[in-house]
Amino acid sequence: MSGRPFLQIPGPTLVPERVVRAMSQPLIDHRGPKFAMLVREVLEGLKGIFQTSEGLIVLYPGSGTGAWEACIANTLSPGNRVLGCVNGHFSMLFCRTARAYGSQVETLEVPYGAGIPADQVEAHLRADKTHQIKAVLVVHNETSTGVTSHIAAIRQAMDRARHPALLLVDVVSSLGSIDVRFDEWGVDVALAGAQKGLMLPPGLAILAVSEKALKASRSATCPRAFWDWAPVLERNARGEFPYTPATSLLFGLKESLAMLAEEGLPNVFHRHARLAEACRRAVQAMGLTLLARNPAERSNTLTAVCMPEGLDADAYIAHAQKSLDMSLGVGLGEVKGKVFRIGHLGSLNELELLGGLAGVEMTLWSFGVSVSLGAGLAAAEAYLLDTPC
Ligand SMILES: Cc1ncc(COP(=O)(O)O)c(C=O)c1O
Repeated sequence: MSGRPFLQIPGPTLVPERVVRAMSQPLIDHRGPKFAMLVREVLEGLKGIFQTSEGLIVLYPGSGTGAWEACIANTLSPGNRVLGCVNGHFSMLFCRTARAYGSQVETLEVPYGAGIPADQVEAHLRADKTHQIKAVLVVHNETSTGVTSHIAAIRQAMDRARHPALLLVDVVSSLGSIDVRFDEWGVDVALAGAQKGLMLPPGLAILAVSEKALKASRSATCPRAFWDWAPVLERNARGEFPYTPATSLLFGLKESLAMLAEEGLPNVFHRHARLAEACRRAVQAMGLTLLARNPAERSNTLTAVCMPEGLDADAYIAHAQKSLDMSLGVGLGEVKGKVFRIGHLGSLNELELLGGLAGVEMTLWSFGVSVSLGAGLAAAEAYLLDTPC
């Protein structure tokens, strides 16, 4: 097909031209002075994205899954009790990583489509009178359901319970698109990947680490080698890595950080909020329902849409791919075959979103769903026209 494919999945996102060009530079010596300067620049830039002045940034070649592992392996010891907040597929996998490292994970589970209730976190921690629970695991933006949990409220709940557990937060599909306030929210480890809000190809695992998490890592005994952040931090201070770094991705990261800085983080968040609301209105005007039931918890980076009863979402996604070369996210875990997901994160503008929504509308219609053609687009366009950028 001519034109560009519509990658409307919730990550990897489209990589902007500027970033592609930056990544095509010739490689440089990763032990030389130019590289050291690059490392300093990207670490400093990432602090801004995590909104931290105190936190330390740790980078590895890897992905979000590796970032989970780095987070757990550095902060916990086998046998530690942890509270795992589960509201979807990725939060379940985060907990599974902790179990694999020997943690005893107690889960606070809510149905797919709900956010993590801070009051239940508080109740759970209050019941742990001797402070055996070492960490609370939570996914800020649950990519399988399109739900954003309220991390500030969870921090407040932990403080009200006067519980010293570490707050370990997956910000894989929020960082760089939805507000993430590492310092203000008292997060101990926030972990992410490169391929979503940071607009890069996949290939980096990125963490922000608090002083408290750093201290915990000194006595934590989970086995670790590649994921051990101590040598990374030590060598980063000299502008180096203890392994061969993903140099091209760091070139790209420098450029994507510059793009986010030029737009300004509040504008980036507003752009995503506006596009997300347009998408939700469009989907609802098509007569479909959202998996995220509470409007206050609906994600600004993706929308999970319930397929009408009796229709298979996976078959619909395959149909959209075949007919318009448009990729939509599949349903994961408990909602496999029941939902499809529209990604609207990273580098995206109004017309790109509208193109994607037109594709959804057309392919639903040709798949046999009774949509009134143009209804979704009209709702999105009206909202965008009414709502200032
Ligand atoms: C919230 C969340 N956490 C973790 C992951 C796993 O990341 P990766 O696929 O980069 O390993 C994903 C992937 O989409 C995700 O959305």
